[in-house]
Amino acid sequence: MRILHLSNYEILICADAGELALESARRFAELAEGFTNDAGRFTVALSGGSTPKAMFRILAENPFADALPWRSIYFFWGDERCVPPDHPDSNYRMAWENLLSKVPVPTENIFRIPAEDDDHQRAADVYAETLQKFFGEEWPRFDLVFLGMGPDGHTASLFPGTAALHARDRIAAANYVEKFQSWRITLTADAINNARNIIFLVAGQDKAPSLKEVIEGPRNPELYPSQLIEPHYGALLWMIDEAAAALLK
Ligand code: 6PG
Repeated sequence: MRILHLSNYEILICADAGELALESARRFAELAEGFTNDAGRFTVALSGGSTPKAMFRILAENPFADALPWRSIYFFWGDERCVPPDHPDSNYRMAWENLLSKVPVPTENIFRIPAEDDDHQRAADVYAETLQKFFGEEWPRFDLVFLGMGPDGHTASLFPGTAALHARDRIAAANYVEKFQSWRITLTADAINNARNIIFLVAGQDKAPSLKEVIEGPRNPELYPSQLIEPHYGALLWMIDEAAAALLK
């Protein structure tokens, strides 16, 4: 494992996806203990896709399962597919099955995106209202936001060339993704960038070309939306594996 300290962010390079999962579980635990000790609670927005699954499974086992203050941890999501919560594609279902159903988190601490609503923009608005009510502020400030990155450079459900990239006055947006011929609900870049900590989890060589563009390429967030992630005040950490890092200078 090696860490690179750059001007606005850090890159932690793990040997492989297994080490990445363990190290990210450790980071989650450190932040959860720190914030619950200091502020009495820890608020985290989870990412979807496949990469976080291994981390969830590690957190659902000891030493983390017994040690973490689950009653003071509040769970949210960065994005969701427009399917019911029991659908195989649901990010909520993936987190529930691999972590939340296995640790003593009160259900009232879990705030999923109501993405099954056919009125997609209403689903996004309801989620935004839930966040404003919970945080008691116009813009939510998560203690931690986990993000993934697709081979096309998308993050959350901020896909290249899509409308949500330009949703500057919103916390959450319904976003039509042509290549999937389907809608997604996503936090906007501004809502994500208001977080105290943002951690990207990126593994696998299929991500190496776009990771190089996102980190070292010219600024072009329309093509590489992950470039929109620049915390206003918080810390940004890229946790990647050697395969994803292969093309970085
Ligand atoms: C989703 C995600 C998405 C994901 C990336 C990476 O709902 O799909 O939130 O942004 O993080 O697509 O997905 P993998 O981890 O499966 O590569």
